[in-house]
Amino acid sequence: MKIQENIPLAPLTTLQVGGAARYFAAAASEDDVREAAQFAKTKHLPLFILGGGSNLVVADSGWPGLVLKIAIGGVTSQREEGTVTFDVGAGVDWDDFVAQSVAAGCAGAECLSGIPGSVGGTPVQNVGAYGQEVSDAIESVRALDLKQDRVVALPNKDCGFAYRTSIFNTTHCGRYIILRVSYRLKKDGAPSLKYADLKKHFSTWSTPPALSDVREAVRQIRRSKGMLIVPGDGDSRSAGSFFKNPVLSDTQFQDLRRRAEVRGLEIPSYPALAAQHKVSAAWLVEHSGFSKGYAVGPARISSKHALALVNSGQASAADMVRLKEQLQNKVQENWGIMLDPEPVFVGF
Ligand code: EPU
Repeated sequence: MKIQENIPLAPLTTLQVGGAARYFAAAASEDDVREAAQFAKTKHLPLFILGGGSNLVVADSGWPGLVLKIAIGGVTSQREEGTVTFDVGAGVDWDDFVAQSVAAGCAGAECLSGIPGSVGGTPVQNVGAYGQEVSDAIESVRALDLKQDRVVALPNKDCGFAYRTSIFNTTHCGRYIILRVSYRLKKDGAPSLKYADLKKHFSTWSTPPALSDVREAVRQIRRSKGMLIVPGDGDSRSAGSFFKNPVLSDTQFQDLRRRAEVRGLEIPSYPALAAQHKVSAAWLVEHSGFSKGYAVGPARISSKHALALVNSGQASAADMVRLKEQLQNKVQENWGIMLDPEPVFVGF
């Protein structure tokens, strides 16, 4: 495996900011991953695992160690009664896999269509959208355990999945390198139509939509919100949602409601949010004095969705962080809530 030096990372991310990797390698096999991990260990280099680069903010100073791009491919499937289990290489493009599962008539990932990134990233932040989360479909995760120096298969229950979290980005951050993920999907299952935007999309249909219709609808909705990577659409030069929707305690929620009442406002609530005691971060941003399109130099809020922060072209990581802090401070000032960023910050 070739280990390169001083490779710019910005072009490998959807936000397109940040500096270079001191060392860079792409691993196409499990052996490559082991070799790269050994290289980093021997040279005492910090190791960063890169997937599709869709949820990252790379610091302007770059990464001082080894960036390992996971390029492990391959999709195999096994059919059992009523289900199909897909075993997918961590480097496979997530949306290509979703397209394949939908074409095979398998339900469980259709609402996760159009999400940029690679398969290996999906368990890390428990990717979710339009009423589905990958944790509902993941059977197990195959990973190299750097602590024990062996390959392990972690069953779903050991992955600690919750809203946008797992053991991989919390308690065991940096311990595992994800190699493959297996998803168990429902053969000939009906598509999930839980989310309000999706229900609305199909409200005039007289027949139930097929899995492929739901996939198309999700991609359309994502496009309208700037959450689909569309070449030429500047609004998609982002890391998706820049903040998590805050999960509040009862007391915090009452406090928020009181603050809204004083201003004659009502906190929007939807089943998808209410189910997990979440409030909309986009709404909080828009009710703290910011509008879509608001810019601080070359960093701006998307013109299509208040949660996406966009690099207008020449933004640095510092520009993005400046905008992020402005939004966090104003939301805190107005609503008493500190917004938690959703992307991973690399090299800060
Ligand atoms: N809203 C605003 N302003 C906006 C957009 C939304 O006030 O610009 C309010 C509205 O009240 C709207 C509500 O927020 O009805 C919910 O908006 P939306 O359906 O766009 O969902 P979201 O909560 O903002 C979450 C995920 C997205 C995911 C969608 C759909 C997080 C942080 N974000 O966004 O995930 O696609 O739901 O399920 O949970 C991502 O994580 O990168 C991502 C794009």
